[in-house]
Amino acid sequence: MQRLIVHALKEKDGFLLGIVIKVKANMPPKQTQKKLSKAKEKKLKRKQEQAEIALLLKKIKSANEVEDYMVHFAPFKTYSQNGLNAKISYGSPANTSPDDLQWMFQLLKDNMEEIYRSNDFRWKDREKFEELSHESSRYLIARDAISEKPLGFVSLRFDLDDDVDVVYCYEIQLSVDARRKGLGKFLMQLLELIGHKANMTKIVLTVFKDNLASNHFFREKLRYKEDDTSPLFFDPMNPDDYTYSIISKELLLGGGKVDKQIKKTAAPETVLTNTTNTTNTN
Ligand SMILES: CC(C)(COP(=O)(O)OP(=O)(O)OC[C@H]1O[C@@H](n2cnc3c(N)ncnc32)[C@H](O)[C@@H]1OP(=O)(O)O)[C@@H](O)C(=O)NCCC(=O)NCCS
Repeated sequence: MQRLIVHALKEKDGFLLGIVIKVKANMPPKQTQKKLSKAKEKKLKRKQEQAEIALLLKKIKSANEVEDYMVHFAPFKTYSQNGLNAKISYGSPANTSPDDLQWMFQLLKDNMEEIYRSNDFRWKDREKFEELSHESSRYLIARDAISEKPLGFVSLRFDLDDDVDVVYCYEIQLSVDARRKGLGKFLMQLLELIGHKANMTKIVLTVFKDNLASNHFFREKLRYKEDDTSPLFFDPMNPDDYTYSIISKELLLGGGKVDKQIKKTAAPETVLTNTTNTTNTN
């Protein structure tokens, strides 16, 4: 678009001294200019967001490619407390035996099917097994160090959740006789370290409101807080429509706060340096 600007030079003694014609090329009116710069801004912002998401996805891919996080956390390979003598391993569906997958599924079913049903949530064996054994799943499995009997597991995924890079804790399930001996807390602390190592922003999980033990475990003991994505925030006027909450814990990138917290709660001199964990305080 071109604009002609005509300036008549001052008249002197009744004579016009001249006319200047300026041609301004590509100069839209001010309003259009504003609109254009806003559109440009939006486009730039969209591009930046896409670039950020691409970076996060790359980070998640790298986290998934780590075959065994336990090499970084040797002191967490064993847990010997309160009558338990457990060893912990990290794996994916690809390197987990069908027997272990079946055992995990059965424990999950034994612990949770009833709670799902009482909360009007659908439970279907096949769907649950598929979710558990999904290729993105990763596991922490605790088993008796001598008999190899499985005691409990965590199922996790590195994922993008509401555009945030997270470790999603899909399950933490312990067999009845392994509970209340500190193993659950120990596994969640290990998960924090793994999430921190993988540079994820937070750990997220879903908990049924009426699972009182679990709420006490996560909220009071491990200091998880209501997550931004929880129904409490996205639908605050109808809290009773939801039987579950989404809770999370920040991993605070680069700040070393995870380590500090674990040091505080889990006897640093043993947990972080000693492979026997004999004085882990859970
Ligand atoms: C919830 C669960 C993972 C906790 O693991 P755990 O090894 O039993 O818990 P810990 O021994 O580490 O307990 C740590 C603290 O959590 C709290 N806690 C654990 N179990 C509790 C319970 N049944 N009631 C109240 N508080 C409990 C306590 O404060 C406890 O500290 P304390 O023993 O010094 O009082 C385990 O009980 C479990 O697998 N439950 C069944 C499956 C389940 O509900 N999973 C969670 C789904 S979201």
